Amino acid sequence: MKIFAIESSCDDTAVAIVEDGRKLINHKVSSQINDHKVYGGVVPEVASRKHIENIAPLVSAVINESNLKFTDLDAIAVTYAPGLVGSLLVGVNFAKGLALGTGLPLVPVHHIKAHIASLYLTNSDLKPPFLCLVVSGGHSHIVEVLDYTKFKVIGRTRDDAAGEAFDKIGRRLGFDYPGGVAMDKFAEKGNPDSFKLPVPLKDEEDTYDFSFSGLKTAMMNIINGFNQKNESLPVYDLSATFRKSVVNCLVSNFIRAARDKNHKILAVAGGVSANSLLRRRLKEEADLNGFKFYMPELRFCSDNAAMVGAQGYYEFLSGKRAAMNLNARANVDLEED
Ligand code: KG4
Ligand code: ZN
Repeated sequence: MKIFAIESSCDDTAVAIVEDGRKLINHKVSSQINDHKVYGGVVPEVASRKHIENIAPLVSAVINESNLKFTDLDAIAVTYAPGLVGSLLVGVNFAKGLALGTGLPLVPVHHIKAHIASLYLTNSDLKPPFLCLVVSGGHSHIVEVLDYTKFKVIGRTRDDAAGEAFDKIGRRLGFDYPGGVAMDKFAEKGNPDSFKLPVPLKDEEDTYDFSFSGLKTAMMNIINGFNQKNESLPVYDLSATFRKSVVNCLVSNFIRAARDKNHKILAVAGGVSANSLLRRRLKEEADLNGFKFYMPELRFCSDNAAMVGAQGYYEFLSGKRAAMNLNARANVDLEED
């Protein structure tokens, strides 16, 4: 079964064709990073306008290169939530046009579920149930993946998402958007124990939630101290210190949740799952505890449509369909979708 998939929830326009939820036939991502860099973050109106420019050429390129016709396909899947509404609307409306024009069924896909499904594209033996850490620019969740379309969130961030925290601190360190990527590179050459940062929620043992705002404030105070003294910022050490603290929070809660809930299969997904320290630490901890551990291929960590095609397949099998009045939504909880 071949699914044509569209993703436009933030600043990447992406299109893919995926077979049976696991096999990538073709995919393309058109990144808008250069358009948003000058502003230090994503500007929603600019994002919508770039999606409008990019989507039709991308759809043509993916279908033409695959040597397939729409009559060879089985469904159109599209990310409808969560994300920037103006961005989502472009993908949703284009997908509706395609569904109307081709007569193919339309399948609505939740963006976070798609990130989880990115794991299926390269890990052919991974099947639910498993425990997944989903860390992106907008979300930080610990999710019990009970089945392909059934999820239970057992931990979530109470303030910033991990990627958002990386990007905000990265910006203060002078890195281009998205700062998380640069901070990871600089952190490799820094001393992670150069500065002392607080341990968030350390007295709350009965939660798997995260909180990154205290860490962010502590970092801002250190950065302000250097700025006030007109001293140059030790960007390598600051990056390494912040990365270690964020990764510690993510790993410790996740491993504790796995032990408590008796999960033996673990996985990570989302843009921040590209973080090299997070990947190393999770693998080490999984090995130590005798857990099986899966990660997405680096090219499928950040937003793409291949993951939408993967999840779209399982949603299609479960009978999920969207009517022609499908709308985009900024916030839809994983369990509510
Ligand atoms: O999943 P994604 O592409 O978009 C959202 O759904 O939000 O995630 C983007 C986020 C950005 O915040 C970016 O800084 C972060 O992922 N990111 C990283 C790394 N690569 C991307 N954060 C830390 N280390 C990385 N290597
Ligand atoms: Zn994403």
